[in-house]
Formats: sequence, C-alpha cells, structure tokens
Amino acid sequence: MTRASAPAKVILFGEHAVVHGQPAIAVPFPALRAYVEIRGDAAALEFRSHSGALLAAPQLPQKSDPLLLQMLLTILRGLAIDAPRVSIHLRSEIPQACGFGSGAAVATALTRALACHARLSIDASRLNDIVFETESIFHGTPGGIDNAVVVHERALCFTKGKDPSRVRIGRPFDLLVADSGDRCATHIPVTAVRRQLQVNPGRTTAILADIGAIVEQALEVLAGDLPFALGPLMYRNHDLLGKLGVSSPVLDRLVCAAGCAGAAGAKLSGAGRGGNVIALVDESCSAEVALALQEAGAKQIWSTTIQARG
Ligand code: PMV
Repeated sequence: MTRASAPAKVILFGEHAVVHGQPAIAVPFPALRAYVEIRGDAAALEFRSHSGALLAAPQLPQKSDPLLLQMLLTILRGLAIDAPRVSIHLRSEIPQACGFGSGAAVATALTRALACHARLSIDASRLNDIVFETESIFHGTPGGIDNAVVVHERALCFTKGKDPSRVRIGRPFDLLVADSGDRCATHIPVTAVRRQLQVNPGRTTAILADIGAIVEQALEVLAGDLPFALGPLMYRNHDLLGKLGVSSPVLDRLVCAAGCAGAAGAKLSGAGRGGNVIALVDESCSAEVALALQEAGAKQIWSTTIQARG
C-alpha cells in the first residue's frame, strides 16, 4: 500500500495586500491534513472517498466530479505516466472553501502517492509546478501561496512576481484557528478591495501599504525570540482588513472575544467576510481563549504549534 499526505495552510499576515504587490506570510497548519492511499489493483484507475464513494475515474467521466477528474488528469500528465489500474482513497481533515488550501493539499498528497506508486522520484519544485497547475482548475488565476506552503511545508513570504522566500521562525508559538462557519468565495472580497482602489485610491493604497509595513515588522519578530510581540501586529492587521471592508460582524466578534480572554493577538485569516480567525495564545490562556471563541460562535476550533525553523 502507498500512502502520502499534505498539510493545510493559514495566512498569518498580508492577505489582500499581497494581491496589490505587498508581501504576505503563510504557514503550514499541520493539525489538519489530507491523506491519500493507493490500496491495490482495480480494473481501471478510480479515485474514491474514505467511505468508498467514487470521486473521479478517467473511464467514467460522467460519474466523476468534473474538477477532481481534471485534477487527476492534470497530475498524470504532469508526472508523464499512464493511469495505473489502482484504487486510490482520499481522507481529508481539511474543510473545503474556507482558506485552508484544501485543494492544494489533496493535489499534493495525490501527486506524491502516484509518483511513489510509479517509483518516480519527484523533487519539491516539480511537485509545486504540478500542484500549481491543478490550482488553476479551482481558482482560475491562483496566487501560488497555497501550493508553495503546502508542498514545502514551511513558512514562506510571498510578493507578487518574486519567488517565495523562507521565513525564519526563532521560537515556536501556538495558534488557535477558529472557523466562523460563514463561507465567502475568495473572489468576492478580492473584487470589493479592487473596487475600493478605483473609488478611493489614496485611502486604499495607504491601507495596503500599512499592511505591507506590518508584514515587514512581523518577519523581524518571527525571526526573534519573542513571538508574543506578533500579537499587536495581528490586531492592527485585522483593523486594517476591517477598513478594507473584508471583515464581518462575526469575525470582529471572534477577534474581540479572543482578545478579552487573553490572546496576545487575533485577526481574520484568508480572504475574509467568513472563513477563519487566528489567535496567538500560550498555555496560560489557550483554554480560556478557546472557550471564549466557542461562546462567540466559532463552529470549530483547532490548536496548532508553529515550529521554530531557520
Ligand atoms: O482564503 P484564501 O486562502 O483563499 O486567501 C486568499 C488570500 C487573498 O490575499 C485574499 C487572495 C490571494 O490570491 O492572495
């Protein structure tokens, strides 16, 4: 049996501003992973859910999820292999469409498993290219954040038009990730920010530049040994995202609840108007912050440690 997995991701700082040329930082979120298992021979290639339901099969296009079938075919083409006659099973812990990079994680695990089954060695750069290609099936013009963080499984800083750079993390720190339960497609707030830039270019450009400055400060803090100093930067980043119009009453309530319960920092993470809030905690306040988030309406809460890395 061949198995492979890949983690979710969260954006720490800089969402939206990154679309307009400012830097952004994203980290892997290993508390949630997608797992792919190649279980054994079959009459033809079949990609199934954990429960056995058919997701995609090149021989049965009419019974396949069209996007997952396209993903599968893109991966086979990227690896330059014929469809093996095997049964592949997916078990993903990553909720879809809430900014966790679920599609990139599934594609990464699937590519790794198919490469391993075909006894192909595939380096991270080629894997990243294949996963990026699958991302355009789901997102049209992907920014490249999800595939890079998920494939390399490390914190990265992104600036449009440049290769992502490694983010040094001097000391580990703990985050709570709270799902607001609300969903909003990424393109809706992205379009709203673009419209604001047209209507009010001076004010909007200044907000985006302020977010960029926060990201630069966050990079310095991350490299040092006082990660709690990220907290005030998170609150400021959240306020600026609110001014851009991409927060929501629910996200504001969650950020506020986390702060009142003792979180060092909190902000929305990802495209906003729904999705997630991240809160910076330590052992002394983690349980209380989790409770406060729950009482403020969080539908699910996960805890994760961002590990130190040079
Ligand atoms: O929620 P996500 O992971 O889709 O976040 C999107 C991040 C944005 O900056 C809003 C858009 C982008 O393409 O970078």
